[in-house]
Amino acid sequence: MAHALTVPSIATHKRRSGRDPLVMVTAYDTPFTRIVDEAGVDLILVGDSVGNNVLGLESTLEVTIADIVHHTRAVRRARPHALVIADMVWMSYHTTTEAAVLNAAELIRAGADAVKLEGGARRVRVIEAIVAAEIPVMGHLGLTPQSVHMMGGLRVQGRDEAAAKLLLRDAELLAEAGCFAVVLEGIPRELAATVTEAIDIPTIGIGAGPDTDGQVLVLHDILGLGSSASPKFVRRYADLAEVAREAVASFGADVRALRFPSDEESYHAPKPN
Ligand code: KIV
Repeated sequence: MAHALTVPSIATHKRRSGRDPLVMVTAYDTPFTRIVDEAGVDLILVGDSVGNNVLGLESTLEVTIADIVHHTRAVRRARPHALVIADMVWMSYHTTTEAAVLNAAELIRAGADAVKLEGGARRVRVIEAIVAAEIPVMGHLGLTPQSVHMMGGLRVQGRDEAAAKLLLRDAELLAEAGCFAVVLEGIPRELAATVTEAIDIPTIGIGAGPDTDGQVLVLHDILGLGSSASPKFVRRYADLAEVAREAVASFGADVRALRFPSDEESYHAPKPN
């Protein structure tokens, strides 16, 4: 079935042209991909946040390209209408351009429609090479978790004038290099608005205020399945952890009280003739 949105249609999707904001969430497996697709999201990100949210890892730096391939396959099996973007993990695009193109191709072969990678000016050559291999690239600027050590922690970026200027320049460079969209994470609302106004590809914000062309949140944060305290930009729409705990506790109580399974939930031997 055709995608609801294609890369070329997203590349021109700007709110200033009267379009609705783009809706992007993460998903890492088949059942949740079905759910978010049925809920009508535009974009599904197989993020390296799978590390913290599903694999029990401390940091996204531990996630491998094989992990993202595995989870992208699971997402694709749900046959979503939404566009599927797979994250290029740390060190999958930081050595040679050739390695980066081959890693991006792995993600496309696993079922992604596009890849996402972090960074500005110093990623331009690699982005151009991946795009030249006919693989659409989404950029990611601001609080880029793969640079946690260089940033000295996961902190809001672009707060002073010099940093804001650099980030704006990075966004322009990513657009020129052929990115079809860019995630803006953890930056002041005012800077996100300036970047959104300055470039012709859509900006998708997370912790970047309401003025971007779209918003992304981690699904596990939306659903209350996150493993750690959420930053202030997260809005939790459900407490599935509590719902799940209650369901499993009820099952346990029924088993222990011999209320499960009932006779109706049991198979029966054929009645003797
Ligand atoms: O991996 C991820 O979930 C992300 C989003 C936070 C944009 O990169």
